[in-house]
Amino acid sequence: MSNAAETPNLMEALVSLAKRRGFIYPSSEIYGGLNGFFDYGPLGVELKRNIRDCWWRDMVHRRDDIVGIETSIIMHPKVWEASGHVAGFTDPLVDCKVSKQRYRADQLFFAAVVIDGKTVGYVSALESENTAGELQAAAEQLKRKKAIQGALEPVKVREFTEATADEIPLIPSPATGEPGSLTPPRAFNMMFETNVGALKDASSVSYLRPETAQGMFVDFKNVVDTTRVKLPFGIAQIGKSFRNEITPRNFIFRSREFEQMEMEYFIHPDADWLACHEEWLKWCQDWLISIGLPASHLSLHEHPKEKLAFYSRRTVDIMFKYPFGVQELWGIAARSDYDLQQHQKFSGVPHVMFDEATKAKVVPHVIEPAVGTDRIFLAVLASAYAVEDVKDEKGNVEQRTVLRLSPRIAPTKVAVLPLLKNKEQLTNRAKALYTKLKKRYAVQYDDGGAIGKRYRRQDEAGTPWCVTIDFDTIEKPGDTFTLRERDSMAQRRITESELFALLEEQVY
Ligand code: GAP
Repeated sequence: MSNAAETPNLMEALVSLAKRRGFIYPSSEIYGGLNGFFDYGPLGVELKRNIRDCWWRDMVHRRDDIVGIETSIIMHPKVWEASGHVAGFTDPLVDCKVSKQRYRADQLFFAAVVIDGKTVGYVSALESENTAGELQAAAEQLKRKKAIQGALEPVKVREFTEATADEIPLIPSPATGEPGSLTPPRAFNMMFETNVGALKDASSVSYLRPETAQGMFVDFKNVVDTTRVKLPFGIAQIGKSFRNEITPRNFIFRSREFEQMEMEYFIHPDADWLACHEEWLKWCQDWLISIGLPASHLSLHEHPKEKLAFYSRRTVDIMFKYPFGVQELWGIAARSDYDLQQHQKFSGVPHVMFDEATKAKVVPHVIEPAVGTDRIFLAVLASAYAVEDVKDEKGNVEQRTVLRLSPRIAPTKVAVLPLLKNKEQLTNRAKALYTKLKKRYAVQYDDGGAIGKRYRRQDEAGTPWCVTIDFDTIEKPGDTFTLRERDSMAQRRITESELFALLEEQVY
């Protein structure tokens, strides 16, 4: 068996499966696609919805201290001035004047090629699993090309943001391999601008939100005034965010339109914010494991003090081992009272709560777990994917592709399969079961082709269980079906009430 980590070109396999089985399509594909935008197909939309619903149930319904909201995507432009996004939501952009390619300076690396202590040129490479190796290989190639004798020093990898004005003209563009065409980095604001109303002028400019979080801060007073929340409490939201990413990449990992699931947890300014931050870190990791992500693929990255966002006291990212490397999945930030103070200042409206203990008004502080649904989707897909050698009914070895998705999030929970399509007794019983199941669960009815083929089809779609209505069902007492488990492929007989009990226990 080869699992996610062992499959060569896993990303290619995932992109191909996603397209072939209707999980994800490139957006506007008939027009050549649009970089950084994706559509979710029939299976994908179910998987994504299940991830989102699990988060909402666990974060909002099953807790007493968190309420949900849904705010508008386009908000008053002052929101983004107050939040700091107009001035500071930028990435360092580098242009290649020859190829017209654009790079993020913090994802572009370079090194001096030093032979016998003397710099003889520069090499560059884009961020990858093996940036240092690529730069070293490029340095060796440059030495050969220039036919320079002597000892080549190991390369020292540097970010393009660190390049001096003298070095920039000497660093080759990754697109052309030649120096002289890269510009110095400049701040590029990632918010998508639009105009609200019929007039297109500076007064009508607004933005597609780059995060859902500001909705929670801007509606803080409304929630406090209209509900009975008391500190500590949280406001959660799931919704689309938009960022004009310079280099969207790795499929849905970094896109320009994506979905966020964010929660702002408001605490008393004197509360132990560090302990609260730790609690949320644990909650988020446990939750990821509860929807089937392997704990072995998760790790933590503490942002160094000097790289913290201006509003953050501490940020820790939960990282995931994606096929293209270990990358951020979920950011948990301690945002202090920065946002509420800013909105208080810009709107003139007090953003306070009454503290019973001290009989004083306080501006709460915030712990914020913020995650992208699409990033979870990709993590789930990558870790669930496996290709295995299995034996068919005749004992011949064949390959099966299987998605070992947790029943909590699998797009289809059960496939109902009558053993034969043209035997009414079988199909009637199968249809009766299917009709009953689909009142509560996403189920499929499949009567097309050999039973083994139907099992494979469901394996690839991640369906945890197949139920076959066979001759024992209609001829023997007990009204039992064959339950076939996706992962073990084991089969056993089960009654209808046992099947409902199994679903009740596993799909929550
Ligand atoms: N409110 C804080 C905030 O938005 P962030 O680290 O910029 O923080 C939070 O984003 C999460 O949103 C990330 O951890 C990631 O899961 C997801 N995310 C951010 N940019 C994304 C993009 N371009 N494509 C897909 N997901 C993205």
